[in-house]
Amino acid sequence: MTKTADLAVYQQDMSKLQSIFDLWRFSVSALQQADVYFGHGTDNAVSEAQLLLAHVCHLDFNQLQQFGAAQVLDSERQQLQQLLQQRIEQRVPAAYLTGTAWFNGIPIMVDERVLVPRSPIAELIAAKFAPYVSQPPQRILDLCTGSGCIAIACALAFPEAEVDALDISNDALEVAEANILAHGLGDRVVPMWSDLYSAVGGMRYDLIVTNPPYVDAQDMADLPDEFHHEPELGLAAGDDGLDLVRSILREAPEHLTEQGILICEVGNSMLAMQQEFADVPFTWLQFSQGGDGVFMLSRADLLTYQPRF
Ligand SMILES: C[S@@+](CC[C@H](N)C(=O)[O-])C[C@H]1O[C@@H](n2cnc3c(N)ncnc32)[C@H](O)[C@@H]1O
Repeated sequence: MTKTADLAVYQQDMSKLQSIFDLWRFSVSALQQADVYFGHGTDNAVSEAQLLLAHVCHLDFNQLQQFGAAQVLDSERQQLQQLLQQRIEQRVPAAYLTGTAWFNGIPIMVDERVLVPRSPIAELIAAKFAPYVSQPPQRILDLCTGSGCIAIACALAFPEAEVDALDISNDALEVAEANILAHGLGDRVVPMWSDLYSAVGGMRYDLIVTNPPYVDAQDMADLPDEFHHEPELGLAAGDDGLDLVRSILREAPEHLTEQGILICEVGNSMLAMQQEFADVPFTWLQFSQGGDGVFMLSRADLLTYQPRF
């Protein structure tokens, strides 16, 4: 028989844990002991445990504290133990276990057909892209939309704007469409199959926002297990991570209005960009809530440096 001491925390008998605070503490210990990777919506065990526990107790994330002393049901305790098991043994990101990710406080339905939303671009959208955007954009393009999180957040930030949400994955587009409809944005946000700009012809946008695949070959080989639950199509982008970004840069001027701008996330591939395009005046954006590797470039600069891309 296995001795209790040999069991991992999440495998222990939980029946004596009565309150939400008991289960919360237990979950934090289990996640920390298992050394899971954080970075798909949270960056620590306390918040990750909070997400899982709020989900099984049918409470909002911020309500756990308020009801911390309340007793849990047996069914809630059992469901939490199952989720911890999947999180720890299979390294499934918490957002796939709960079915929801939060982007700028907006709930986005997710499953393994789309990346878990986590782009620092959320912070730019919350600030309505100030100071780079002074007039509310009329037409916005979310290139590589995935779950539709950026398109939806943009549409909510700019209630007059029309947003096209493009992706090459039909699986992702199904999720994006469900999210768009869930937020009542079916009349302003249009999901479309497209290989980069292929579906939009000569259409021009005031703002192109994109979080394309940008993980280089070395980083792909080193990714923690959690990332292997995400579609590879949303991550891998060749040896230096810039396969798609080069095309996005080259073709952007043909899809931007005169005063239009491109906002693009390249994550760790920022270094490769800075080396390859040392002469290009990218504005690398700062984030108070963490994250980097996002640049802004105006249509005028995109045109000037087009031959370089
Ligand atoms: C990094 S994910 C971003 C998803 C979402 N915008 C977000 O921020 O969470 C990149 C997305 O690009 C899509 N994609 C990959 N290659 C593409 C291409 N050639 N044209 C359009 N979309 C592409 C993938 O299917 C994936 O959904």
